[in-house]
Amino acid sequence: MKHETIEKNIGLMGILTLIVISFGGLAEIVPLFFLKETTQPVEGLKPYTALQMEGRDIYIREGCNVCHSQMVRPFRAETERYGSYSVAGEHVWEHPFLWGSKRTGPDLARVGGRYSDEWHRVHLINPRDVVPESNMPGFPWLAENTLDGELTAKKLRIFKDYFDVPYTEEQIENAQAEVAGKTELDAVVAYLQSLGHAAPK
Ligand code: HEC
Repeated sequence: MKHETIEKNIGLMGILTLIVISFGGLAEIVPLFFLKETTQPVEGLKPYTALQMEGRDIYIREGCNVCHSQMVRPFRAETERYGSYSVAGEHVWEHPFLWGSKRTGPDLARVGGRYSDEWHRVHLINPRDVVPESNMPGFPWLAENTLDGELTAKKLRIFKDYFDVPYTEEQIENAQAEVAGKTELDAVVAYLQSLGHAAPK
């Protein structure tokens, strides 16, 4: 096949260009599936408890991830502000992951333990009660809605069966009892407090 044939046939050139580019992609992406560093959980990583799991779902439902990323990038300005940078092994059990790239509010990957539960409660109901200049919306209904936990065990089961998250049968059996009667606010706070628990030191 002559070069001329390719250059004069835009369809063929398009297809061949695509093939060339996908080789580049393959060479960069495929090895990541086999690198232990990107597929194995970091030391000390704990699966979300039933309550944290519900909190995470509410976090997604309320669109918290639209304003908050959960990924500290490996730059000094980031690590000074938030803490150690994020690594893939912290997120192997996250489906879907919530790294994000848009930050209207601060990154939350290291927020666990930074504030008390009470601070979070006040802040989520009305952020301006603790951060006067905040433009984060309040989520007062979280304190009023209670969870019945009907689907919680099923969620844990799916994470165990399909995503290899090491839940024990006991955790799954107790899941409903753990969350039933708690408020959505309890769940979101529990979730926030767990963020970054396995951050590399
Ligand atoms: C419209 C954008 C927006 C949304 C949606 C939003 N936030 Fe925020 N959030 C902010 C901003 C801005 C700040 C910084 C001011 C403050 O602390 O209130 C913030 C701060 C925070 C902080 C304190 C972080 C720190 O390190 O000081 C937490 C925790 C937080 N948000 C959690 C949440 C949760 C949970 C939700 C969903 C229920 C949520 N946010 C939804 C914008 C948002």
